[in-house]
Amino acid sequence: MNLVLMGLPGAGKGTQAERIVEQYDIPHISTGDMFRAAIKSQTELGLQAKSYMDKGELVPDEVTIGIVRERLSKDDCTKGFLLDGFPRTVAQASALEAILAELERQIDFVINIDVDKNILMERLTGRRICKDCGATYHLVFNPPAKEGVCDRCGGELYQRADDNQETVQTRLEVNVKQTQPLLDFYEDKGYLRNINGQQDIDKVFANIQELLGSLQ
Ligand code: AP5
Ligand code: ZN
Repeated sequence: MNLVLMGLPGAGKGTQAERIVEQYDIPHISTGDMFRAAIKSQTELGLQAKSYMDKGELVPDEVTIGIVRERLSKDDCTKGFLLDGFPRTVAQASALEAILAELERQIDFVINIDVDKNILMERLTGRRICKDCGATYHLVFNPPAKEGVCDRCGGELYQRADDNQETVQTRLEVNVKQTQPLLDFYEDKGYLRNINGQQDIDKVFANIQELLGSLQ
């Protein structure tokens, strides 16, 4: 199963990705997570990415395409993959087509989690993440049973560095601009499937499962 998950910042890509990869046993490839891991371990890639991410801008295409190319060539991707947050520009989408052609693979679906941009500020500023297992919560929409503590593993919850109001504003502007050409690109190829992301989390996942059921 070769999948791409698209959606504006806060649309619910990470939330749904957790569930998809668990159910279908495919690797979760999130460029945002890869950059954050590189920043944490202070690698060259992390240094390059940090200045862009702190401002809410996109990391340059060459850098992003390079890490995805490397990741997709790993053995665990032979059983399929879920790309989350990549591609985000038409240049990245074209590069992905070329990478997959080399690997003799093809995308099954591009799942676009569709939400009105006006609700995303609240979703992002209220998000909290477990520092140990990475599970995602929301102060209002998906709160943990005990404040500040992960239900799943007991880890401490934190707020992402780019989830402050100013950076979210830039992230939304940058991504809104890039999204339509990318949707057009995938609509033309016949891969695009839209899912209503303004339903509760379980309902969104149920819609995705219905779609993916047609592949099995
Ligand atoms: P990245 O990490 O990919 O962040 P993003 O696209 O901004 O998306 P988010 O992770 O913020 O949101 P999400 O859609 O996963 O939402 P979530 O499920 O957490 O990228 C970060 C940065 O890295 C970029 O700004 C850029 O600098 C760089 N980067 C990454 N990829 C790049 C690329 N390809 N090219 C260039 N640069 C790149 O949900 C959000 C909140 O809402 C949570 O609190 C959740 O609990 C809640 N929620 C989720 N679903 C629902 C629902 N249905 N109802 C109510 N609440 C919900
Ligand atoms: Zn946890």
